Amino acid sequence: MAGRIWFLKVLVCAAIFIASSSFADNVSSITRFSSDDDSLFLTPLIDKDDIARARTLSEVKLGKLNYELRSHSGYITVDRLLGNHLFFWHFPSQESEKAPLLMWLNGGPAVSSMLGLFWKHGPLEVNTEKYGTNYSLRKHTWVGPFSVVYVDNPVGTGYSFSEVGEAGYKLTQAGYTHDLYNFVLQFFKMFPEYKTRGFYIGGQSYAGKYVPALAHKIYTQRHNESADIPLAGIILGGPYFDPPTESVAFFDFLYAVGAISYYDMERHKANVKTMYQKFLEGGIVKQTFSELFTDLVLLKELPLPSLDNYVTGKPADYNQVQTIMSSPEMRKAVHVGTRRSYFASNDNLSERYGPDVFVSTKPQMAVILDNYKVLIYNGDYDVVVSSAMIEAALMSTKWSLQKEYNNTRRRIWNTPDRLKGFFSYTGKFCRVVVHGAGHQTPHDQPDSSLEMVKGFLYQGCIKPEN
Ligand SMILES: *[C@@H]1O[C@H](CO)[C@@H](O)[C@H](O)[C@H]1NC(C)=O
Ligand SMILES: *[C@@H]1O[C@H](CO)[C@@H](O)[C@H](O)[C@H]1NC(C)=O
Ligand SMILES: *[C@@H]1O[C@H](CO)[C@@H](O)[C@H](O)[C@H]1NC(C)=O
Ligand SMILES: *[C@@H]1O[C@H](CO)[C@@H](O)[C@H](O)[C@H]1NC(C)=O
Ligand SMILES: *[C@@H]1O[C@H](CO)[C@@H](O)[C@H](O)[C@H]1NC(C)=O
Repeated sequence: MAGRIWFLKVLVCAAIFIASSSFADNVSSITRFSSDDDSLFLTPLIDKDDIARARTLSEVKLGKLNYELRSHSGYITVDRLLGNHLFFWHFPSQESEKAPLLMWLNGGPAVSSMLGLFWKHGPLEVNTEKYGTNYSLRKHTWVGPFSVVYVDNPVGTGYSFSEVGEAGYKLTQAGYTHDLYNFVLQFFKMFPEYKTRGFYIGGQSYAGKYVPALAHKIYTQRHNESADIPLAGIILGGPYFDPPTESVAFFDFLYAVGAISYYDMERHKANVKTMYQKFLEGGIVKQTFSELFTDLVLLKELPLPSLDNYVTGKPADYNQVQTIMSSPEMRKAVHVGTRRSYFASNDNLSERYGPDVFVSTKPQMAVILDNYKVLIYNGDYDVVVSSAMIEAALMSTKWSLQKEYNNTRRRIWNTPDRLKGFFSYTGKFCRVVVHGAGHQTPHDQPDSSLEMVKGFLYQGCIKPEN
């Protein structure tokens, strides 16, 4: 019975997907833009090739910080049938005219990518000491080596929304990939200078699904002249890209740090394998994300204060980002109008991702590893996606250099007075473990993380292969 419901859901989603793609070419169907909405919708301008106006209108004015920061924000319409609009905030590099574009996606599911901006590597950071809950300029930002666009994904997250409300939510890989792909096509029309500079897609945690799926979609369209996207590579932090293997290996880290007994490790592993079997048989459809996740990460019985960083015990602070993004001044600056809600994390949406939890992007990852540059990093204090989990997924990813990766040896990344981490370099694949960091890696180790992405960009990894 449950199997049937699962199948029906897939059918319904597929139908919406097909319907929306055929409408996407119908320019006159953008009648859904509410005329009384004071948000900035850029798609009508992009459609008319009025790029200059789109760029001017999307400029962000942040008071005193204007002299130091150039940025653009607004909405791009990614599903014209449903009226799905993705919110973005884009920071061009002011360090280099040649800096490639990095698109950044947070995970969750349903966590706003403004967390990436304010909590990890954007040019602005949460600053509670000086201003209450406010922001100031960040010292170690990835905007410099890269131009970065932070995108709230999927619709229902952050400021991204659907005009049909929850009916517009994209709950499957095909669904959210469709929306993200349409975003990328239009973004390159609005900022064509990036066509010759290279494109990276980055993200963390649950974005371990979004990023390879989107990169794979771009790969399949690589010979399509009307969709010429200069994909150079992907960057993944603590990625949850193969839940079946990673969720079993979750218990290895807890056992290694002594948080659970050998007996419990074996018992929990068996439990997860049973859950996965149930998923394969189609029986997991009715469970919410939190119901599944409570079991997968032992939420109720774990003695650790935070899954993000088991040493500091500090999680990312969603409330501060919520406060900053929803202030009237910020709404005005980033062109989102006055009426819409902002969700640093949308629990109602994430709850509906239960059926997506066990869906793997390992097959897509294998294609990406064979065709593009890939950086996968994680912090060694990360519990929720530990090194053991990522290795379990990687060792079972069937790409052309799998054997070589299996047999690779880690190199030490350090300075005379400090251990920064460990890395290996296989083909175009750079694997890094950042020492002293948790799940929010660049927040915990800003300078090492910046050095890491620069190394990846300019020489392939922390150090070139010798
Ligand atoms: C295009 O949109 C118009 C107006 O909404 C509609 O009447 C027409 O049927 C649409 N055409 C296609 C091919 O979808
Ligand atoms: C927040 O920070 C900005 C930029 O530093 C500053 O102009 C503004 O006055 C601050 N707001 C508050 C409420 O402190
Ligand atoms: C090529 O890309 C355009 C724009 O995304 C799309 O409409 C078209 O269907 C693609 N062609 C093929 C053969 O996939
Ligand atoms: C979340 O779902 C509950 C129950 O359906 C509903 O009452 C509430 O308004 C929803 N919250 C948001 C922010 O959509
Ligand atoms: C890589 O290692 C994994 C785990 O031991 C193993 O299952 C897989 O067959 C190995 N693959 C190759 C090509 O050596």
